[in-house]
Amino acid sequence: MTATLPTTARRLTGLKPTGHFHLGNLLGAIRPIVHAQYASESVVFVADLHALTVEHDPHRVRELVLEQATTLLAAGVDPDRSLFYVQSHVPQHAELHYLLECATSYGEAHRMIQFQNRGDGHTRLSLLTYPVLMAADVLLHGTTEVPVGRDQTQHVALIRDLAVRFNGRYGETFVLPQGVNPTTGAKIMDLSEPTTKMGKSNANPAGTVHLLDPPDVIRRKVMRAVTDQRGEVAYRPEEQPGVSNLLEILAALSGDAPQTMAALFGSYAELKAAAADVVIATTGPIQARYADLAADPGYLDEVLDEGARRARERTAGILATAYTNLGLRPTAQVALQ
Ligand code: TRP
Repeated sequence: MTATLPTTARRLTGLKPTGHFHLGNLLGAIRPIVHAQYASESVVFVADLHALTVEHDPHRVRELVLEQATTLLAAGVDPDRSLFYVQSHVPQHAELHYLLECATSYGEAHRMIQFQNRGDGHTRLSLLTYPVLMAADVLLHGTTEVPVGRDQTQHVALIRDLAVRFNGRYGETFVLPQGVNPTTGAKIMDLSEPTTKMGKSNANPAGTVHLLDPPDVIRRKVMRAVTDQRGEVAYRPEEQPGVSNLLEILAALSGDAPQTMAALFGSYAELKAAAADVVIATTGPIQARYADLAADPGYLDEVLDEGARRARERTAGILATAYTNLGLRPTAQVALQ
């Protein structure tokens, strides 16, 4: 059996429900998804199975899945343009995960930097195999493009290795995906520690602007952002990381260049006030749509059910091909799909 190749680019993004979405997620991941869904085929899913690879609280995961799915819709993910669903609603992910584990060596999974950097204590086996689940996510959809940050490039390389190996050994089954830079994505740093990326798990909560933070909280966080003693509004990420980060935020949200923005402000207080204004102007409409969606949970359920149904339908074929090519005997029912 041979897999059919998609004719247009197919982009896929999984978002892990391990925290509240913040400004860095909006600019680095969500906006690029929303833009790309008009240009290429787009798959977006809440990667809830991935949230179980580290110590987790079931109640919190359940809430975050709902919150993230609602926020993605509120921020512009259009379920008519993107195939949008929750990963665990589509059992094909877990099934292909197992099949791909049978094509992955312990050594190559163990080498992954994220696994090497794990903390001490109880390490779940699923943390070791998590890049293989990610491979299943990507390969299941015949994905051609995976927009990922630098922390995920090693995983994308593993996914490509697995696809090539599987195809070579068992016959053409998977499309070979490519990692791409989310081009419109700006890199936003923590407001209280501007040399660290916003949203790192150990970060000071004051340094992260969450998309659902009320306007007064956003203003307070931005006004308290760490700057420096120079007193000069200039875009110099190395020498003035705090000021440059505020300029980056302003620029990303207003569509201008940070260098151009720098010339507009005479003081840090003015810069901060303008940054707070533009962040609040961006999150306001998202929060308004979020409130509408939250008031009608039936709608979200419908959207997610329909997305999962389409995803199951669309991925059944490639999964059946993988089973068969690996040497398993399909049931009559699988063979029909
Ligand atoms: N591993 C990604 C992260 O930690 C999340 C993810 C899971 C993902 N499956 C994916 C990203 C598939 C891209 C494609 O952020």
